[in-house]
Amino acid sequence: ETIDLEGKILLPGLIDAHVHMRDPGLTYKEDWKTGSRAAASGGFTTVLDMPNTNPTTTTAGRFREKLQIAGSKSVVDFGLHAGVENLDEIPKIAELCPSSFKIFADLVDNGFLMEAFHEVSKLKDSSLTQEQESNECHFKPLISIHCEDGSITGHCTDRLKSEGVLDSKVYSRARPPLAEEVSVSNAVTMAEHFNVPVHICHVSTRKALEIIKRAELAGCPVTCEGTPHHLLLDASSFEAFGTFAKTNPPLRDETDKIMVSDLDMIDVVGTDHAPHELLEKGRDVWNAPPGIPGLETALPLLLTQINQKKLSFERLIQLLAENPARIFNIPNKGFLKEGMDADFVVVDMNKEGVVEPENFQSKAEYTPFEGYKVKGMPVMTVVRGNVVMDEGGIFENMGKFIHI
Ligand code: NCD
Ligand code: ZN
Ligand code: ZN
Ligand code: ZN
Repeated sequence: ETIDLEGKILLPGLIDAHVHMRDPGLTYKEDWKTGSRAAASGGFTTVLDMPNTNPTTTTAGRFREKLQIAGSKSVVDFGLHAGVENLDEIPKIAELCPSSFKIFADLVDNGFLMEAFHEVSKLKDSSLTQEQESNECHFKPLISIHCEDGSITGHCTDRLKSEGVLDSKVYSRARPPLAEEVSVSNAVTMAEHFNVPVHICHVSTRKALEIIKRAELAGCPVTCEGTPHHLLLDASSFEAFGTFAKTNPPLRDETDKIMVSDLDMIDVVGTDHAPHELLEKGRDVWNAPPGIPGLETALPLLLTQINQKKLSFERLIQLLAENPARIFNIPNKGFLKEGMDADFVVVDMNKEGVVEPENFQSKAEYTPFEGYKVKGMPVMTVVRGNVVMDEGGIFENMGKFIHI
């Protein structure tokens, strides 16, 4: 069967290396069905899920359980990042081919971070185990890391709370740019020392990005991610959207933030799709959970940048397909060429729209991009030859694990 594109544009299926599907345990926020439908709707054919579910994905047993859940519900293909809690589990989880070992640096101390890097570095020297060999496991020892220094953020938060500050805008002062910069420096130092590749999630400040770039130029195995909200929004979103704009790291001031023109220095755009319940987001600034759903807004926002000549298709494809496929060792994905899976997204560069969260497939119907005018939208998503989205309609499909 052939598909007539009628002048529309065919891109490789997009890979979102940073999503929180919330399943198991937090399915009132999102689940693998709704979250993967959001992915299909947004032009993503592959998602890599984060481990901060309930329970956390920090043992081989829980990793297997999540593989089952995702395999039975997801309409798009998927990989799973493993969390790091018990160091003994690292080699066991490695057998199951995680996309990476994910560490929330704000929640652990340097001693633990060091031991985690050491444990992952040992995986490099051990050849593939028999299980990995027979599974044709596409695994590479990689740490992905959420960079904020917990000692700094904890201190700032305590101080602001004791002053009774309850203004949404203050959230960026509770997690200042310096907390991110210190944490990023630390992560690149560990990567360099242990020679373990590190992927730095959601970089939000220009200075943090410059630290990464300098390390990369000096030969440090480091890559990084920027999100659409950190690229396109700034701290002023708190005024219009309050806690809907609350995320980690916080949206930064104009003077500190990364911008679309910084995309030359960024390897991957990930959405950090971090859905929460409206009721929870309605709490005050200290108690509302951080996070913004991103799967259904990322591509229209970036296509709009292309229409405005601030971004090229070539770069978009690198950031959302080729580079994540390379960094996370995803075979058969990311490129429009022979031997690859038939994963596509068709985009209509003339289609205009307004971001309306009530139309999301995601359970999280809020976004600080509400009302944003876009030009350029996905109109069809195809996973391994199966149409999963056509003009907004979503179709059933059996998503597959991508690393085996
Ligand atoms: C994420 C979440 O809600 O799980 N929240 C966020 O603000 N980005 C966690 C994370 O990625 O740090
Ligand atoms: Zn994070
Ligand atoms: Zn780079
Ligand atoms: Zn995240």
